[in-house]
Amino acid sequence: MQTITDIKKMKSFIKEARKKGKTIGFVPTMGYLHSGHLSLVSAAKKSSDVVVVSIFVNPLQFGPKEDLKKYPRDLERDKKLLAPLGIDVIFSPTAEEMFPPDFSCYAEETKLSKGLCGKKRPGHFKGVITVVLKLFQIIKPDIAFFGAKDWQQQSIIRKKVKDFHLDVEINTLPTVREEDEVAMSSRNSYLSKKERKASRILYQTLCFIKEMAENDEKDIKKILKNAKKLLKSEPLFKLEYLEMVDPETLDPKDTADKPLVALIAGFIGKTRLIDNILIR
Ligand code: PAF
Repeated sequence: MQTITDIKKMKSFIKEARKKGKTIGFVPTMGYLHSGHLSLVSAAKKSSDVVVVSIFVNPLQFGPKEDLKKYPRDLERDKKLLAPLGIDVIFSPTAEEMFPPDFSCYAEETKLSKGLCGKKRPGHFKGVITVVLKLFQIIKPDIAFFGAKDWQQQSIIRKKVKDFHLDVEINTLPTVREEDEVAMSSRNSYLSKKERKASRILYQTLCFIKEMAENDEKDIKKILKNAKKLLKSEPLFKLEYLEMVDPETLDPKDTADKPLVALIAGFIGKTRLIDNILIR
């Protein structure tokens, strides 16, 4: 396993691998890896000859009041976690390498990114798809792996691949959960013991919604009203949004008669958490 920080070196590594007819699997991350990331890496390893994991805390996707500075970073820890998985390369460029001072081109999605997290974090998805487009250009993967926890992110990336005719297959893998079913997230490391316990309310609420919808309650307004009552039972949680939408178009729905995804976002203290669940 080698660590490459230079874009030119990364590109020539890929060129050599391609010459030998190897397929490339890619897992983009912002580091501080957890079992969710490692499940993506294992899937990449199974599907591809060469596996590249990028570790890059992308400044473009953080708002001015967000946690870019304090976002957890520990490359040595990440290397130790990745070493046993037999990957080929960690691509870990600096911010200057990815975004030199004269950088001026961005990719933007204008529909799926309007609601949900996009509404609460203006510019976030523009930052995500710009960096992912750059990473795809550098690594030229056959398959790239994303977690279902960031449902809106993977929907927008799929749309970008379609709209820009990118030759990469997007594979979305299920959210990996802790023993108490809290979704794994690098941001869980910010939570105190009490806050960590309170964070269970996100998935509990999503399970409540799924059960109601799958037990023939079709009225989404009613389902969400009841779910919000449940959320009030956790005083540490401050809701940002709770919505039930079409899994592909992300359009909000009134009736639970087709497959849906329920998504939740909110704060526990200063930590912003998200989660989601697929329904039928
Ligand atoms: O999901 C993430 O960790 C990031 O948004 C990604 C896809 C690595 C882009 O910076």
